[in-house]
Amino acid sequence: MSTPSEKEIKRANELGKLISYHNDRYHLLDSPEISDAEYDALFRELVDLEERYPELRAPDSPTLRVGAAPLSEFPVAPHSEPMLGLENATDEAELLDFERRTRKFLGEAGEIRYECEPKFDGLAVELTYEDGVLTRAATRGDGLVGEDVTTNLRTLPTIPLMLRAPYPSLVDVRGEVVMLLKDFKELNDEQDERGLPPFANPRNAAAGSVRQLDSKVTAKRKLTFIGYGIGRLVGFEFSSQLESMEAMVEWGFLPNDYRVVLSSIVEVAGYCADIERQREDFAYEIDGCVIKVDDRTLQERLGNKARSPRWAIAYKFPPMQARTRVENILPSVGRTGAVTPVAELTPVNVGGVTVSRATLHNMDEVLRKDIRIGDKVIVQRAGDVIPEVVRAIKEERTGEEIEFRMVDHCPVCGAKVTRPEGEVVYRCEGLACPAQLRGRLRHFVSRRAMDVEGVGEKLIDQLVEQGMVKDIADLFTLTEEELSGMERMGQKSAKNVVTALEEAKTRELGHFINALGIRHVGEATAANLAATFKTLEVLMGASEEALLSIEDIGPQVASSIISFFTDEKNIETIEKLISLGLSPSSPVAHAGGQSLGGATFVLTGTLSAMTREEAKETIKRLGGKVSSSVSSKTSYLVAGDSPGSKVKKAEEAGVEIISEEQFLQLVNSSPSNTEPQTAENVKKPPSQQKLF
Ligand code: IVH
Repeated sequence: MSTPSEKEIKRANELGKLISYHNDRYHLLDSPEISDAEYDALFRELVDLEERYPELRAPDSPTLRVGAAPLSEFPVAPHSEPMLGLENATDEAELLDFERRTRKFLGEAGEIRYECEPKFDGLAVELTYEDGVLTRAATRGDGLVGEDVTTNLRTLPTIPLMLRAPYPSLVDVRGEVVMLLKDFKELNDEQDERGLPPFANPRNAAAGSVRQLDSKVTAKRKLTFIGYGIGRLVGFEFSSQLESMEAMVEWGFLPNDYRVVLSSIVEVAGYCADIERQREDFAYEIDGCVIKVDDRTLQERLGNKARSPRWAIAYKFPPMQARTRVENILPSVGRTGAVTPVAELTPVNVGGVTVSRATLHNMDEVLRKDIRIGDKVIVQRAGDVIPEVVRAIKEERTGEEIEFRMVDHCPVCGAKVTRPEGEVVYRCEGLACPAQLRGRLRHFVSRRAMDVEGVGEKLIDQLVEQGMVKDIADLFTLTEEELSGMERMGQKSAKNVVTALEEAKTRELGHFINALGIRHVGEATAANLAATFKTLEVLMGASEEALLSIEDIGPQVASSIISFFTDEKNIETIEKLISLGLSPSSPVAHAGGQSLGGATFVLTGTLSAMTREEAKETIKRLGGKVSSSVSSKTSYLVAGDSPGSKVKKAEEAGVEIISEEQFLQLVNSSPSNTEPQTAENVKKPPSQQKLF
C-alpha cells in the first residue's frame, strides 16, 4: 500500500474545491465557466487519485455525487424524531379556526406571527449532518421509519455534502425533493422517445427517481431539494422558524423566495389566495401553503398531537385532479401527422379550470391504463401542460364500457394511418392532410428540399387559411394575380414566387424525394434513392427487396417508403404535380454518363482540398452515394489525414481504400464533372476554392 505524497494530498483537496465550485456555477447559478471537457478532465483526475488512495476521498468529495453500485433493497432508516404530517384547512374559515384553537391552547391574546411558505408537492426527506457532513439521507416513510437513500440523494446538486460553517454539531434538515416542471417535461419526452410509459406527474417522477435501487439512474434524473424545517439540532439554537430557514440558506441550501412572516391570520388568508393565483407560474408543483407559528418557544409550548404538530397547518388548494366520465375517445391529428387518442369528457372543474378534453398520449397508454369509452376516470392538469387522463376507476364499471380502437384511416383526410415499426405513435400518411399541411408545405419549399425562394411561413399560413392551397401540388397552380392579393405581397414579389416555383419544377430528384417528407427519408436517403432509381416512376414501383439492397436502408425505412407510395391520396397528389409540369431531374442522366453512379463512398480523416460536406455533395451530384459506416456494400473508403478505425474495418471487409488524391482523380475523370480539376485550385484555401 502506497501513501499519497504531499503534492497529491494538496491536489486532491484543490480538485475537490474546484469541482464543487464548477458544480455550483453549472447547476445552481446556470453560468458555467469551463467547458464540459475541462470539467470531465478535473473530475477524472480526482477519481484517479481517490482510486489510488482511498484515504484521499473527503466526506464531501464531489465524486460521491455520481452514484454507486445498485442495491437490492434500501436499508431501513428510523427517524430519531418522528416526521409528522400536517392538518389541513381548505378555506379561510378553517384558517380562522386554527388560530382560535392556537390562542385557546396558549391562553394568548397578543400577536402571533406566522411563517408561511408554499407546500411543495414532492417527496419528503430528512438529511442528517454530523459535524457538517451529510451522513444520512432518508425518506419520510411512515413518519417513524423511512428508507436510507443516502447514495441517491448525494447525487442532487442542491443537497450540500458538507454544510458551510458555522454549522451545528448535529442537525436534521427536512424538506421536499421535487422535479421542476421543465425537467419533468424533458424526462417524459425522453421516456416517449424510448417507447417507455410517461410518469403520471412530477411528484411520481421525483419519488420514483429517489427510490431507485441504482443510484446512477437517480444521478441522471434532474431533482431539486427545497428545505422547510429542522429536526434534531445540537449546538445551535433558533428563536424562530424564520431564523432556522435563513440558517439553512447560509449552510448552502436553496433559498425559498416565497416565504413570508405575517402577523395576523387574515393576512395569512390573503397570502394563501395570492399563492393560489400564482400557482401555475411556479417552476415546480405546489399543492397548498404551510402556515407555521414562527416563534420557537410558542411552538414548543404548543407541542404535537399524535400525527401532527399543533403549531402548523396546511392550507390545501383544490386538487389539480378531478373525477369525471369519458364520453368518447377520438383520434386527433397533429401537425406532424401523429394521430393521438383524445378523451372527450363530461366537463369538470380541475383546479379552477373547466376541462372537457384530455389527452391519452398514444395507443400504448390507452391499453396500459385500460381506459374505455364510458369509464369513470381521474383527470389531471399540471402547469400549462395539456390535461390528461390518469386512470380509470375500474371498480365502477358497468360492463357497458367500450374499448377504443385506433382508426386505420385519417379522420381528417382519409389517408392511411399506420404505426411505423418500433414507434408508439400512429401517423397519418396523407400528403394532402389539412391537419399537417402547413408543416409539410414548410418542409417542401425549404432550402434543402425544393428550395423555393419567397415562400415563407407567413405566406403559407395565409394560403392554407384562405383555402388556396390544399396540398403541395396546389402551390404550382398559384398565379401572380392571386399572390399579389395576399398580405405583404407586391406585384414584384408575386412574380418572383411564380418564377421560383417554375424553377423548382426541375429540381433534382433527390431534392424532390426529400421534399415529399416521407418518414425516415432525410436528405441522404433521398439522394441515395435518386441515385439508385433515377426516375420517380421507377422509385414509386420499387419492391421492398430493391429498397433493402440500398446502403443505409433497413426494413423500417423500406416499409415507410412503400407505404407512402402505395397510399392513394399520395399517388393522386404526385400525379397532380406531374400534370402541373413537375419533372425532377436525375443527376446522373442529366450529366450524361454513369460517372460515380452506383458507387458507395465512406469518408474518414481530414480532407485538405475540401470539407467533408463538399466531398459528400460532390459524390452525390455525380450520382454516387455516401454512407457513414463501412460495410460489404461500400465501394471505396476515402482516407484523408489521420484516418480513424474505418481503415481497419475496410481492410477486413475487403473494401478498396483510396487516398484523397485518388478520390479527386476519380471525381475529375467522371464524365459528368464538367469543370476540370487543376492542381492549382486544389491548393487554395477552402473559402476561395472553385473545385468543381
Ligand atoms: S412543514 C411537522 N413545510 O407536507 C410538519 N411541510 O402533510 C412539518 N410539505 O410530508 C412539515 N411543503 O413533506 C412543511 N413548506 C413545507 C412543506 C411541507 C411540503 C409536506 C411535507 C409533509 C407534508 C405534511
